[in-house]
Amino acid sequence: MAPNPMRRLDQLLSSLGYCSRREVASLVKAGRLKLGDIALTKADQRVNPHLVTLDGEPLEAPDGLLAMLHKPVGYVCTHSEGEGPTIYELLPTQWLDRKPAVTSVGRLDKDTSGLLLITDIGSLVHRYTSPKADVEKTYLTKVDRELDQRLIDIFSRGDLMLRGETKPCLAAKLEILSPFTARLTITEGRYHQVRRMFASQGYHVEKLHRESFGPHNLGDLEVGEWDLISVPD
Ligand code: URA
Repeated sequence: MAPNPMRRLDQLLSSLGYCSRREVASLVKAGRLKLGDIALTKADQRVNPHLVTLDGEPLEAPDGLLAMLHKPVGYVCTHSEGEGPTIYELLPTQWLDRKPAVTSVGRLDKDTSGLLLITDIGSLVHRYTSPKADVEKTYLTKVDRELDQRLIDIFSRGDLMLRGETKPCLAAKLEILSPFTARLTITEGRYHQVRRMFASQGYHVEKLHRESFGPHNLGDLEVGEWDLISVPD
């Protein structure tokens, strides 16, 4: 049986981060909530989330939110304070008031820029980050000395051991783009993985930028900007 899409209006607005459940009564009183052309009159009324408008606008991502953020260098992927500016400062505050609040799908280091997915859909976080996920992530890297063609083979063999780990990295694809720059595609998400892979071969990664994550590409999204995207099936 298909899930019942009807939701209580006050619960719906509060779960989407618009306001508290109590405040919905004021919005109703002010005639700001409608179902089609008809003003809603009761805060506890059950409604189809896709048909409700607030001030004439449809509700934002009623089935769950997925966005791409172009993370700038210098921002940390944490909800806690004290480690510098956080990626959450770049997002609408309403997203943090959703229940559950949005979170990043995995993390990028403070010094890494590029594509970060933001969502409140727990199953999607799991699907994209579980060890068995096998999601391709593509990084542009700039290193401190000339790249050796032998790295292509070293990274692709699937036997590269990182310091302190007991399992080798899965095979990764390296494309050398210029003497100091390369594109690396990996399917895992180990701690500082790209920097550590290069470090294992004596390279220091000076710049690291994620271009894509699974089917999602950063495209021409500006640094610090976000874009809502559709949830994959
Ligand atoms: N690998 C890293 O070393 N850092 C990142 O931010 C992402 C992948």
